Amino acid sequence: MRESYYVTTPIYYPSGNLHIGHTYTTIVADVIKRFKKLEGNDVFFVTGTDEHGQKIAEAAKKSGLAPIEFTDRIVETTKKLWDSLNIEYDRFERTTSKTHEETVQKVVEKLYEQGDIYKAKYEGLYCVPCEAYFTESQAIDGHICPDCHRELQKREEESYFFKISKYQDRIIDYIKTADIEPAYIKDEIINGFLKDGLQDLSISRTAIDWGIKVPFDEKHVVYVWVDALICYLSGIGYLRDEELFNKFWPCDLHLVGREIVRFHIVIWPAILMALGLELPKKVFAHGWILFDNDKMSKSKGNVYYPEPIIETLGADTLRYFILREFSFGSDGNFTIDKLVQRYNSDLVNDLGNLVSRTLAMVEKYFDGIVPEIGKAEALDGEIDAEIERAKEAFYAEMNDLKFNFALEDVFKLIRRSNRYIDETEPWNLAKSDTERLKTVLYKLSLAIVEAAKMLEPIMPATTEKIYEKYNIKNSFEFKSGLKVNKGENLFNRADSDMTEKISQINKELFERRQKEIGNAPKTSEKVLEKKAEIEFADFDKCDLRVGKIIEVKPHENANKLYVLKVDIGGEIRTIVSALREHFKEEELLNKEVVMIINIKPVNLRGVQSNGMVLAAEKNGKLTLLKPWDEGFTGAGIR
Ligand code: MSP
Repeated sequence: MRESYYVTTPIYYPSGNLHIGHTYTTIVADVIKRFKKLEGNDVFFVTGTDEHGQKIAEAAKKSGLAPIEFTDRIVETTKKLWDSLNIEYDRFERTTSKTHEETVQKVVEKLYEQGDIYKAKYEGLYCVPCEAYFTESQAIDGHICPDCHRELQKREEESYFFKISKYQDRIIDYIKTADIEPAYIKDEIINGFLKDGLQDLSISRTAIDWGIKVPFDEKHVVYVWVDALICYLSGIGYLRDEELFNKFWPCDLHLVGREIVRFHIVIWPAILMALGLELPKKVFAHGWILFDNDKMSKSKGNVYYPEPIIETLGADTLRYFILREFSFGSDGNFTIDKLVQRYNSDLVNDLGNLVSRTLAMVEKYFDGIVPEIGKAEALDGEIDAEIERAKEAFYAEMNDLKFNFALEDVFKLIRRSNRYIDETEPWNLAKSDTERLKTVLYKLSLAIVEAAKMLEPIMPATTEKIYEKYNIKNSFEFKSGLKVNKGENLFNRADSDMTEKISQINKELFERRQKEIGNAPKTSEKVLEKKAEIEFADFDKCDLRVGKIIEVKPHENANKLYVLKVDIGGEIRTIVSALREHFKEEELLNKEVVMIINIKPVNLRGVQSNGMVLAAEKNGKLTLLKPWDEGFTGAGIR
């Protein structure tokens, strides 16, 4: 009987274009979908975008767009990206879609009517990037976000609360018994997040309006995480398409990055319990792809996009590499160098060569017709045994989500087959033993088609090319007598400058996107990233004074700089300052400003600068720090 299978990725924040990290979960979900489909299941795969909340509203504002215009743009490139990676999702759920919005409102209304939601005042510590509240005991040192390590904001607001505390015991039971991987996460959550007991969850916000309105109180919008999680229901027609929903719920597999597993194994089951729905069958929390062993971030400028890799080495290379290189549960370091190395060694040398050598020989010795098995020797039986071994191991590893091992199993078969060519020396058999040659080329072709069949969910485009070369639509059609066509190489060797080339394309894309979207990292953003705590003594080293600007002249050698003369109370300092694009000379003249006077002098285009005027920057605009009252020239700051 055909079984149904439902797999999801997290729905991604479209606060910027998606990078290799997001691609990871999505490729895995697609591979699982294809794998389950090939096993004969009916599969449904939901991905999408999590478009509400303060983070997106702020990103949109920075680029001067309305939130929906902003997310529309990102969604467009996201869908293009998934197409170019051959991602076969069944539904791309946007939280801004009408159907999703209605589902969320119905869910909230239902929970309110049954008494699971009530109104109260909320006081807590909020993390904007994570869109989550924390209690003081959950926060590091009482004020740092335990997830992203940024400073938390104290907030007080009227809010609707979900009585999650009521479900606490059932949640703990669920976590203990459910299929959650890796298993150590269970202890982490039970002994960490749930240690002090669950407080009711604030599920609405009044401070922002970019969200789904609470149906019975429109001053409030639904908390983004509640809004987002419900996509797993709205994506398969909950309260809308009963047949679809009943067919695919409960979800078979939620794939999530480890940082958001808490939402999926605490909040999500509680909502489902309240709705009287079955709980997901499995949650798998995978590791993080790191860059230079660090998290990717726009402000660090180490963002890697998939597009430059797809453009140069093809979608299948990225799909293969991501699954082959990393162990799905653990963190791993990504480098373009490793990608190019694997491309050359595994795809060009091993797979590509096996296919082109074999087909060249079928063409040369048998006019392009796959021969029948002729005379066989013990060695030929080893290929059959290796095919069986690879298949058995591959399917077991795939079912265990151990993709790197599964691929290693296929590539062992591929490498064994290449060795078989070296061992049997078909070019000599062609002269001495055509009957044996038939067997060798048949076995090689069989090994190729069997390998292709296993690779189908991971490298669908490559598999298709292999089948085309053998003139078949799927592996079951393979037999002797097929007319092959060697055609072009599956993969062409990447030159030594490929790493550099991909990095360069990536850099250009990053810069273009920063400009397009209007959110190039600005000084203001860098300042906003909290710096490490310092002692008062460190701060006290800064000699801050009020100075009066008594002369403003353009710098002769730099069109962004002014040369200022500043009176700091009996002493006149020369200061070179990059204020020329922001203020006219007369706007600065005779103004009292705040400056640091003991910063090491620097020579700026030939003029020594002995201090620095302090300014604040927002969205590229500058304003100077000025004392409230006049007449403070020379005063120290304390
Ligand atoms: N919008 C929430 C999820 C809501 S689901 C109901 C969110 N979005 S996100 O854009 O931050 O994407 C999170 C997911 O992207 C992670 O859980 C993970 O699956 C994937 N990744 C993003 N960066 C990643 C890496 N560097 N490495 C691996 N996966 C990571 O959280």
